[in-house]
Amino acid sequence: MSDKALLTIDGNSYELPIITGTEQEKAIDISKLRDQSGYVTLDTGFKNTGATKSAITFLDGENGILHYRGYPIEQLAKNSTFLEVAYLLIYGELPKEQTLLDFRHLISRHTLIHEDMKKFFDGFPSKSHPMGQLSALVGALSAFYPESLNPNATEEEENLTIVKLLAKMPTIVSWIYKKSLGHPVIYPRNNMNYVHNFLQMTFGQITEEIELDPVIVRAMHILLILHADHEQNCSTSTVRIVGSSNANLYASISAGISALWGPLHGGANQAVIEMLESIKNDGGDSAKWLAKAKDKNDPFRLMGFGHRVYKNFDPRAKIIKKACDDVLEKLGINDPVLDIAKQLEEAALNDPYFVERKLYPNVDFYSGIIYRALGFPTDMFTVLFALGRLPGWIAQWKEMRINKEPIGRPRQIYVGSTPRDYVDIEKR
Ligand code: CMC
Repeated sequence: MSDKALLTIDGNSYELPIITGTEQEKAIDISKLRDQSGYVTLDTGFKNTGATKSAITFLDGENGILHYRGYPIEQLAKNSTFLEVAYLLIYGELPKEQTLLDFRHLISRHTLIHEDMKKFFDGFPSKSHPMGQLSALVGALSAFYPESLNPNATEEEENLTIVKLLAKMPTIVSWIYKKSLGHPVIYPRNNMNYVHNFLQMTFGQITEEIELDPVIVRAMHILLILHADHEQNCSTSTVRIVGSSNANLYASISAGISALWGPLHGGANQAVIEMLESIKNDGGDSAKWLAKAKDKNDPFRLMGFGHRVYKNFDPRAKIIKKACDDVLEKLGINDPVLDIAKQLEEAALNDPYFVERKLYPNVDFYSGIIYRALGFPTDMFTVLFALGRLPGWIAQWKEMRINKEPIGRPRQIYVGSTPRDYVDIEKR
């Protein structure tokens, strides 16, 4: 197998190294191409561009495979807890029992947020979107923990910043929810595990703890695990590129949260439920909406369908669909929106438009139905995605720093006006 690619431009040949990953993925290294030839490469939307070498997540979109640090997502969703997966992603290995206990303990020491941060909540209009609040609050952590600003922090100092963010995120998310209801916030209870504590702060009352059904707690673990990383997607690339300027962790993650918010990315989980509701209110005719999605003159897209890299079933969607059935059965919920989702899925999977384009349900298609069954309002869904994605973003930020990656700075092909002289305003 050749380890070089040969590129010929205008009769001149250039040898470009071939890079092979551990799963035999192949890439042509073009990093020196401009110096050699004067040419850059153009790939709008980075559809075929590797931005980094990463040892965190492996994704084979053609075969519907997703591994975190080599472990299949199916095994992690079945056997692991969210905090264990967070440890795996950030530190590279599954923790031994005592290491996990120590990690849990360390996290539980940092769950409180500074009391002054409560004032931010008072300043947000009551109907402001939780994602805007989350991005602002996570960015604001840098103001309360200025030691995080030091790009030359020791590993120990950097680790403390990481732990603080992981520990405070559930508190921030649940407080955003409580404030949206006008209810008093619930303080973290450090004797509870990460997910249990989050659910208690979200759904518990100041006057009483709630009984949490193990099926619900497990479903929450699964959802968070399935969202925990997904290699170089829009928000993760944002986190890495912001971090590459030596911006602090809180600022980098805040930027990732903003990137996730868009309906083509994490915001799709909210958009899916809104779409299913619209279809229901419109009489439930899924064929009509499928036709709209196929009509190139109609901006409507089938939300929760299609993926940049999965050209086969999204493995996360398969697991979520099953978890969704379990939760609805356990809670005895009969959600008409679920019937519409199932009809729509079946119709799309048998429609040549979707088949030819390899458009399958993605992670967001069924996650919203579970979140809704658990009692979360629609505009909190993307915040839950962010809570799940946090360890992945942190792991990617950390890896980018360990690898001492250079500042991210793409090239462009300028297609604007060529030089021209300034014209006085009265002569234009
Ligand atoms: N409904 C109808 N047509 C679609 C859809 C859809 N959901 N997705 C893609 N297409 C069509 C698209 O119009 C294009 O058709 P043509 O070749 O005739 O022009 C073709 O499929 C390829 O689409 P694309 O936009 O070039 O693909 P992309 O890789 O740039 O976009 C996507 C990927 C996820 C943004 C897109 O599939 C989409 O908008 N899906 C709906 C939003 C969604 O569910 N997003 C969540 C993604 S998973 C969660 C996450 O990790 O972010």
